[in-house]
Amino acid sequence: MASDKPRVFSGVQPTGNLHLGNYLGAITKFVALQESHECLYCVVDLHAITVWQEPKELEHNIREVTAAFLASGIDPKAHIVFNQSRVSGHAELAWVFNCVARMGWLNRMTQFKEKAGKHRENASVGLFAYPNLMAADILLYRATHVPVGDDQKQHLELSRDIAQKFNTDFAESISSHGFAETFFPLPEPLITGPATRVMSLRDGTSKMSKSDASDMTRINMMDDADAIAQKFRKARTDPEPLPSEVAGLEGRPEAENLVGIYAALAGVSKSDALQEFGGAQFSAFKQALTDVAVEVLGPIGAETRRLMDDPAYIDSVLSEGAKRAHTIADPILRETKQVVGLLTD
Ligand code: TYM
Repeated sequence: MASDKPRVFSGVQPTGNLHLGNYLGAITKFVALQESHECLYCVVDLHAITVWQEPKELEHNIREVTAAFLASGIDPKAHIVFNQSRVSGHAELAWVFNCVARMGWLNRMTQFKEKAGKHRENASVGLFAYPNLMAADILLYRATHVPVGDDQKQHLELSRDIAQKFNTDFAESISSHGFAETFFPLPEPLITGPATRVMSLRDGTSKMSKSDASDMTRINMMDDADAIAQKFRKARTDPEPLPSEVAGLEGRPEAENLVGIYAALAGVSKSDALQEFGGAQFSAFKQALTDVAVEVLGPIGAETRRLMDDPAYIDSVLSEGAKRAHTIADPILRETKQVVGLLTD
């Protein structure tokens, strides 16, 4: 891999159906960054088990996310695709970060509050420490850029805080070992484009999510043309026609969401989309939306299915990716241990 390009790391949890939010908020960005960056794309299986996963389903889901990565256009030869648990440094560095991050910082994480809900006492310790593992994922490779959807912003701020605190707490040791002062870079989130927060098709104020009980709230990457058409047809809207300018979307969350989805799928801006559809009724717009969604997702779904028929190939991609990830991670983990004062071979 060319090492003079900035390094990107990002991850997707293998916890069930990937949906349009994952695709537009993250995976399309992963694909685009391959030209200009050195990329590591990780199926974060250790994050997945912070909530219960049926072992057989987890195996299936790890392969399916990998297949979806490849089907979407990630090149596992030019870049690195692997599953997190195969590189033990993620868990090791996460432990060090468990000792750097403060309880107060984690207590502020809105995602933990949402996921743990009223059953906080019953949530796994792993779910609470989840953001520390995320920081470890990124910093184990000293990645500087992290493409994610808007919902991961707070976790990335925490990653930056951890990097900063580590660099400060261990400044003397870092310098006495002759390592660069910025031992861990502060990773930058890349949250761009018209669909950084794709919302539920049934409620424009809540996020499209794998865990929503109703499948009608989301378009899954593996949905067929009929399912896509039906879900958009039944998507909630308001009675007004579409506005011709972006400002006219204010206070119309469902309209704004559908326009954002259309723009991202068609590769245009929201403003361009509204120039085309301003004044149109939702019925006409929904038809165009369905057409573009089927055009984009259809071939990806078909290719994902084809790849899933050859699990040995998928496993070889992950195994090869993990070997290459190790070659970057191992020296960084070793330096980290030296800085902390842990004896290494
Ligand atoms: P996960 O698996 O929940 O989601 C994967 C990616 O999809 C984005 N995403 C969305 N984007 C727009 N609209 C939505 N409705 C939507 N839903 C999900 C997420 O922002 C994410 O980019 N913690 C991460 C995985 C992770 C990670 C990392 C990411 C683990 N380690 C290190 C970056 C770097 C997560 O749960 O993603």
